[in-house]
Amino acid sequence: MKNFDSEKHVRGESQFVDDLPVPEGTLYAHVFYSRVAHGRIVSIDLSAANAMHGVAAIFTAKDIPGENQIGGIVQDEPLLAEHHVHFIGQPIAVVVADTALNARSAAAQITVEIEKLPVITDPRDAFLNNELLVPPITFELGNTNAAWTQCDVVIEGIAETGGQEHLYLETQGAFAVPAEGDAVKVVSSTQSPTAVQRTIAQVLNIPMHKVEVDVLRLGGGFGGKEDQATPWAAMCALASSSLRRPVKMILHRQDDMRMTGKRHPYSSDFKIGLKKDGTVLAYEAAFYQNGGAAADLSPAVLQRTMFHCTNSYFIPNVKAVGYSCRTNLPPNTAFRGFGGPQGKFVIEAAIFKAAEVMKMDPFFIQKKNLLKNGDEFPYGQIAERCQAVPCWNLLEQKISIDDVKRRTADFNSANEWKKKGFALMPICFGISFTNTMMNQASALVHIYTDGSVGISTAAVEMGQGVNMKIHGIAQRIFSINAERIKLESTNTTRVANTSPTAASTGADLNGKAVQLACSVLLDRLKQFVSEQLQQPDSAKIVIRDEKLFNDGKETEWTWPRLILAANGARISLTAQHFYSTPNIHFDRETSKGQPFAYHVFGTALFQVTLDCLRGTYGIDAVNVVHDAGKSLQPVIDRSQAEGAIMQGIGWMTMEEIIYNNEGRLITDALSTYKVPDIHFTPAEMNVHFLDSSENPFAPFNSKAIGEPPFMYGIGVYFALMNAVKAFRPDVTFPVIAPMTPERALCLLYKEVGTLAPSLQ
Ligand code: MTE
Ligand code: HPA
Ligand code: MOS
Repeated sequence: MKNFDSEKHVRGESQFVDDLPVPEGTLYAHVFYSRVAHGRIVSIDLSAANAMHGVAAIFTAKDIPGENQIGGIVQDEPLLAEHHVHFIGQPIAVVVADTALNARSAAAQITVEIEKLPVITDPRDAFLNNELLVPPITFELGNTNAAWTQCDVVIEGIAETGGQEHLYLETQGAFAVPAEGDAVKVVSSTQSPTAVQRTIAQVLNIPMHKVEVDVLRLGGGFGGKEDQATPWAAMCALASSSLRRPVKMILHRQDDMRMTGKRHPYSSDFKIGLKKDGTVLAYEAAFYQNGGAAADLSPAVLQRTMFHCTNSYFIPNVKAVGYSCRTNLPPNTAFRGFGGPQGKFVIEAAIFKAAEVMKMDPFFIQKKNLLKNGDEFPYGQIAERCQAVPCWNLLEQKISIDDVKRRTADFNSANEWKKKGFALMPICFGISFTNTMMNQASALVHIYTDGSVGISTAAVEMGQGVNMKIHGIAQRIFSINAERIKLESTNTTRVANTSPTAASTGADLNGKAVQLACSVLLDRLKQFVSEQLQQPDSAKIVIRDEKLFNDGKETEWTWPRLILAANGARISLTAQHFYSTPNIHFDRETSKGQPFAYHVFGTALFQVTLDCLRGTYGIDAVNVVHDAGKSLQPVIDRSQAEGAIMQGIGWMTMEEIIYNNEGRLITDALSTYKVPDIHFTPAEMNVHFLDSSENPFAPFNSKAIGEPPFMYGIGVYFALMNAVKAFRPDVTFPVIAPMTPERALCLLYKEVGTLAPSLQ
């Protein structure tokens, strides 16, 4: 199996926004943004910039004909700052010129006078100042207050995780071309064509039918283009419709890093209560989410943190509270896992700390409390087709944990300056948008008279292989040659009112819609042939490898003949179909319901070696048993799993986002923000797919794969912590991620009291 995009990718032939041939007269836009994290705009002086060579126009808030508003969940974010600025990187003006360089040079001539206001960068500070983006969210199961008295051990603590830069290879960008009248056509690097369309219509004050958004593919999104691809497209559309010229904008990497939001950092309190035998009876957590300066997707991200606050464990008494805190940073946004990883990290920290106090192995507590069928999640859903225990057991069958434990201990007693550590990481991730309404998709399938097939869906290809999966579904239903089928661009005039390609649901929702549309066409074609062959039962007509069989006997009919004849007989060769996930619901008032179509499970084992002189480390092995259902495309699923694990490892280890107290991003280039490279990949990575599971909620018993494996990465943090503890067994350490080599070195040598300023 080859991904049909691979060849074009490696030859540099795949088209991204910046590769599209532009029409004559195209102008280039550049964003001028705030250098102050919080303040009142006193004046903006555009005169010097306007006088620069090649400048066509400069747009500010007052040039917006419609609403100066891009907020999705809460309408709290202007496209261009007007009276106040709330973060460094907030767009204030858009400079449009004949070349990208001239636009950039002119932007450097803009001056703004800003009266500075106090800056908050820490979510707990924001909370103390009552700066919340939305009201707090509470999830509750059982009664924790009553449960504490039944516990033999109760432990409290703090756990923190850092942000993460998406680092999609293709930076944010868009290209707008004026169409007839006041319409506009926009090519955007977005996961959500409909969000772009809706926002442009609102900003330009025109109906949505005058905005066509087209997406061929993205050079990566990872959630960073679910909501935050929209402003650039809106700016291009604004300039283009005003100047009646095509306008293109491609962000420079550094501007992209400074202006866009990232994974939400969290600081969280936990309290966990256990019986002597390791059974967890009660768990409480308070999550302080660093939301940034506007809501963006933060409330939905926080909600998913709550959904996953007990990871793959059953805990009978749970109380979790989440605070979405407003700070003077770029609004943080969707990132693979969508708050789930942050929630899981805290329960893993709690178990780790409990194990320390109880002198048990963390994996003993983890295993003892794994979810089983019939267990209730804190949000009221009952676990079904639960694969937590089967995945764990299969991993243990492949690798004996007792062996690993013994070998690790042997190595550590034989080596003074190198220490090994290991940790297990089970996962359980709910599949469906947690906003029930978003779980819908549609497909439009044309069969052309030469027998070739064009498929349009709401799914956006961003490297995750959704097109390949959908291609496979259509091929399986029609049983025709692969080359006959083409996945078209994602376009709002062909498929309307789409949900973003996100929440790992792209192949599930759009694949189901395609499955339904293709089945309708197939039935129609079989009906037609059965009439031609005087076969009263159309179910006896079968297409196999482009040949038609009647009651098991090969006929003269082939796919091309069938299509031509059907067209001649005036049979429609087009079908459109809609799919919405059945039986899901969630009540936000009570925080109860059945929000997920199903859950994805798995378990990972991480083994690491820490250099105790330098604080540097390597990953010896990652072994995973993952419940991928019946994979639609095993090679793609494997690469998704491996890529996600690596991205999760990066988040937990070397990727560190630092803002200074003025709210300025320090790590705004690849010289200061490190992502894992080939030398850091684990020496061994084995992902074994559990093949025994059934899943009626995705095409052909498959399961979503995009996000869940990201969360295995959390295991590397605790493996490293165990290696640190092997070097300093008498110390208890704060649980703060990422475990950069710098932090590891500090943990190895510094006085613990000096470790974490945020905790003192
Ligand atoms: N894989 C690649 N190569 N590039 C991406 O941008 N995004 C991830 C995941 N895998 C991403 C990726 C995220 S955040 C999600 S939600 C899913 O893909 C979305 O696609 P799917 O729903 O088709 O799995
Ligand atoms: N996951 C990912 N993206 C989303 C979600 C979700 O649950 N809800 C809204 N956007
Ligand atoms: Mo993925 S964070 O749901 O785009």
